[in-house]
Amino acid sequence: MIIEPRMRGFICLTAHPDGCAQNVKNQIEYVKSKGKINGAKRVLVIGASTGFGLASRITSAFGCDAATIGVFFEKEPSAGKTATPGWYNSAAFEDEATKAGLYTKSINGDAFSNEVKQQTIDLIKKDLGQIDLVIYSLASPVRMHPTTGVLHRSTLKPIGNTFTNKTVDFHTGVVSDVTIEPATQEDIDNTVVVMGGEDWSMWMNAMKEAGVLADGAMTVAYSYIGPEVTEAVYRKGTIGRAKDHLEATAFDITNDLKAINGKAFVSVNKALVTQASSAIPVVPLYMSLLFKIMKKDGSHEGCIEQMQRLYSDRLYNGCEIPTDEKGRIRIDDWEMRQVYQDEIAELWKSISTETLTENGDLTGYKSDFLNLFGFGFDSVDYSAEANELKMVASIK
Ligand code: NAI
Ligand code: NA
Repeated sequence: MIIEPRMRGFICLTAHPDGCAQNVKNQIEYVKSKGKINGAKRVLVIGASTGFGLASRITSAFGCDAATIGVFFEKEPSAGKTATPGWYNSAAFEDEATKAGLYTKSINGDAFSNEVKQQTIDLIKKDLGQIDLVIYSLASPVRMHPTTGVLHRSTLKPIGNTFTNKTVDFHTGVVSDVTIEPATQEDIDNTVVVMGGEDWSMWMNAMKEAGVLADGAMTVAYSYIGPEVTEAVYRKGTIGRAKDHLEATAFDITNDLKAINGKAFVSVNKALVTQASSAIPVVPLYMSLLFKIMKKDGSHEGCIEQMQRLYSDRLYNGCEIPTDEKGRIRIDDWEMRQVYQDEIAELWKSISTETLTENGDLTGYKSDFLNLFGFGFDSVDYSAEANELKMVASIK
């Protein structure tokens, strides 16, 4: 099959197995080039197939020589249809990890369900005994609650007032105004149920009860803060309420894990192009300005650079883990540099379709977006038949 990108709105309907494999290989090479990290050896990554979760899994495996179990929700290839990128990424990861002699198993199913939690616990008991590090990196628009059976939907809405700001259609480069009506209380509650900390604490409780958390086990979930221009729709919007809840949950989990000396952290990460973030209004325009400035300054990072730095300079730096006044790990420190933020705030006032080519890195944004789906890699011959082998990996 010859596979080409097929765009629909904020998503691409196709994915390229060889390109996804290249993306995974590039991340592995980066981690190896940075040297070994003295980190956890038995790692569970929930949300392991794309974005920050995939980069965490790669850093654990190829930076720390860890055995990894990855949980994700992806579509396998079917007649005439490609798999989702996360499926190909995971197939490629499993190939590479196996070649490197590393233990690797993956579970493809709904992480919010009791069944997948139990399946994961059974696998840990059978193969690894216990886990030293749990990375919680889910991003989902929906969650079926395991006890009520209710399907909750998250939203990206401001709270209190209607919000109007500039946004960009990154496919066309057209900058326009977007207006979003404020959330209802139900929207807020649903978003907290989907993207807040309840499921994270359910995972940690189930694992503790089953005795599969090692003494001193650590767990890390990911959050975002960001600039003033996105505040109304992000940090002070519905998703921000969910992040507040996630951040508060870290303290509850640490408390619950006292008996085994466990600890939960939230790491605040940089804004990056992932499937989850490209759907947020205003954010892609901010990101294209940010990337231009950070690249010019030599401080730009992608998911893998962020996760490698999280492990080497924060989680496993050999001394105490540095946190902010709210107990959060900050690897958005470079993004939030005052000079960058001042420059963005100034550019924002006059940014338009005409000035974006000059002031923003739309090309970089688009290329990152294509890369997510395995497209745009120089080393891949897209006119050739895609590698069928990659489509029959051993994912449970
Ligand atoms: P992503 O969309 O790349 O990855 C989401 C992962 O969750 C995938 O592995 C997917 O398979 C998995 N998943 C989704 N629903 C699932 C389900 N029901 N069961 C099992 N697996 C499921 O997202 P990204 O951007 O890496 O986000 C991860 C975390 O990082 C989120 O909490 C997000 O808010 C946070 N974050 C993202 C930033 C960004 O700019 N992308 C910035 C800072 C934090
Ligand atoms: Na992820």
